Amino acid sequence: MSAIDITAFPKDFAWGAATAAYQIEGGWNMDGRGPSIWDTFCHEGGRVFGDNTGDVACNSYQLWEEDLKCIQQLGLSHYRLSVSWSRILPNGTTNHINPKGVEYYNKVIDSLIASGVTPMITLWHMDLPQALQDCGGWCSAEIADIFESYASFCFKNFGDRVKLWITLNEPYVCAMLGYEDGIFAPGIKDPGLSVYVAGHNMLRAHAKAWHAYNTHFRPSQGGQVSLALYSDRAEPLTAKDAAATERYKEFTLDWFACPVFCTGDYPESMRSRIENRSLELGYKQGSRLPHFSKDEPSPLGTADFFALNYYTSRKVKDLSENTELSFVGDQGAEGVIDPSWPICGVHWLAVYPEGLRKLLKYIKDTYTSVPIYITENGFSQMGPVQIEDVDRSQFYEDTLQQVGKAISQDGVNVKGYFAWSLLDNFEWNDGFNVRFGLFHVDFSSSELKRTLYRSGRDYAALIAKHRSQS
Ligand code: NOJ
Repeated sequence: MSAIDITAFPKDFAWGAATAAYQIEGGWNMDGRGPSIWDTFCHEGGRVFGDNTGDVACNSYQLWEEDLKCIQQLGLSHYRLSVSWSRILPNGTTNHINPKGVEYYNKVIDSLIASGVTPMITLWHMDLPQALQDCGGWCSAEIADIFESYASFCFKNFGDRVKLWITLNEPYVCAMLGYEDGIFAPGIKDPGLSVYVAGHNMLRAHAKAWHAYNTHFRPSQGGQVSLALYSDRAEPLTAKDAAATERYKEFTLDWFACPVFCTGDYPESMRSRIENRSLELGYKQGSRLPHFSKDEPSPLGTADFFALNYYTSRKVKDLSENTELSFVGDQGAEGVIDPSWPICGVHWLAVYPEGLRKLLKYIKDTYTSVPIYITENGFSQMGPVQIEDVDRSQFYEDTLQQVGKAISQDGVNVKGYFAWSLLDNFEWNDGFNVRFGLFHVDFSSSELKRTLYRSGRDYAALIAKHRSQS
């Protein structure tokens, strides 16, 4: 990674890697863990590549010490992990606490800190407790208060040591794929309707958790709370697609970022577009995009830093002729991969590191000057395992070079970078067919042996170089 100007990165830059509970932990029914929607979804069959499940995954529940060795080998300063909600609260509520689950996360947090690694904890990374789904999941208004209690439970139990919190991971993706397209758990296909309700309750839940932290925990714990937002870098396919590109951004990042960072409400033009389309399509059952109530804590200002998950860029095509009642119809736009960009592994992921620099600048100019953490970014591999993954290593080099330029030339306050992922893991509906790790995991052996990829070795060398120069 010699092309990177290491001096661009501030002394206290967070060098991290990220994982998520369902994708690595396994132990799906061990020691009192309750089922989550991903357990149900995978067990149904026919949903995931090869009917793979996260029942065992990397078995991090039992092999945590192995993961810790990987983290140490990379020399990470930060590690982002998620708590499996149903491992500590099996039915999702604080009425039933699973002490073994709490014990597991205490062990993880304590050993990270003892190794000089700062934990960043995500409270919900797609794996809603099944018991809550049975009561409507993110479409139920009550979920916001239940999430607030769960978050407060975690702040109370872990917040003496954990200072960086992410409430929700990628609400956009979860609402879209889980409640519109139905290809992610809970598998609901309800075009143009549930997606907005689910997204709304996610924002309400996040806002309540942030306010709970701010009032009850921040004074003694002094940590920071945000939510991780997914965004592409969107560019028009042709000059005719400029307006569609604006709509695409509005329905992706602005949908969640505008209420939190700008106005406390959805973008006005998003709302008016949805309302106009409802009229055109003869939809008469009230507003499809819910309103924030004045009686609840506002989402405005509920992020102490900007947490960005960036993977790819897209060219946007106008689809304003689409007359379906659906999210894409409302958006009137579609993002496609430019054929000139190389694809890495999966079809939706194109290598375009410049996109990250442009997006960082866009965030700084459009939303906020709060520090930005890139909470996920990575490169996938499919087909035969290549431990000498030179193209992934090159990807990290090119990407981090762009991050360095964003800091030193564009003045963006980037505080940290988390590679996705520490380990090859369960990649949602692609199962184990797609690998994102800095460490390879041999899923064919019961030991689930971890082996450092070349990209991991190069990332470790970069971190060591930065450390030695700071
Ligand atoms: C973002 C998600 O947060 C993570 O769970 C997933 O594995 C990566 N994208 C790669 O698709």
